Amino acid sequence: MNIAIFASGSGSNAENIIRYFEKSNHTFYIFCNKVDAYVTVRAKNLNVPCFCFTKDELNNSLKVDDLLKQCNIDFIVLAGFLPRVPTRFIEKFPNKIVNIHPALLPKYGGKGMYGHYVHEAVVEHHETETGITIHYINEHLDEGAQIFQAKCEVLPTDTPDDVAQKVHLLEMEYFPKVIEKLINEI
Ligand code: GAR
Repeated sequence: MNIAIFASGSGSNAENIIRYFEKSNHTFYIFCNKVDAYVTVRAKNLNVPCFCFTKDELNNSLKVDDLLKQCNIDFIVLAGFLPRVPTRFIEKFPNKIVNIHPALLPKYGGKGMYGHYVHEAVVEHHETETGITIHYINEHLDEGAQIFQAKCEVLPTDTPDDVAQKVHLLEMEYFPKVIEKLINEI
């Protein structure tokens, strides 16, 4: 299977997924909308092809569509990818685009809710638990059908950084396993 991982930032999820599947016969490609994102360095170190594009190219050209076609992509993973995915991708890859969100959706999802902002909101609202949600993408941000959730405790003394660390552990543990299950079902 040919799998595209879309990322915009550090790429710790992208690297963890690629390492998890190291001994499989799946081929990975990284798609990134920020030339200076650390995920591009990880791609180089992992020897994984990495394609960069601008948000404008994503939305208003067929550059990314053509790359996906050239690489014969079967499945798309959004791992910290910030731009909205154009609707035409959802049509081209029905139920084959999954995203990870660092909270228990529908809580703390939607516009502006990404990365550290999510953990700050969780602490601000005195939540006692948070976690991860893996879901399909649809045309509404963070509203696609849920596939998997895992929870962790939030202590009254936890800072957003503490919460981020706990959520990160859940991401590292579960995201590759859920992807494995999904692609085995295709
Ligand atoms: C991850 O925590 C992911 O859940 C989050 O961005 C981080 C990316 O980290 N995604 C969102 O907030 C999407 N709304 P990474 O680049 O190290 O994998």
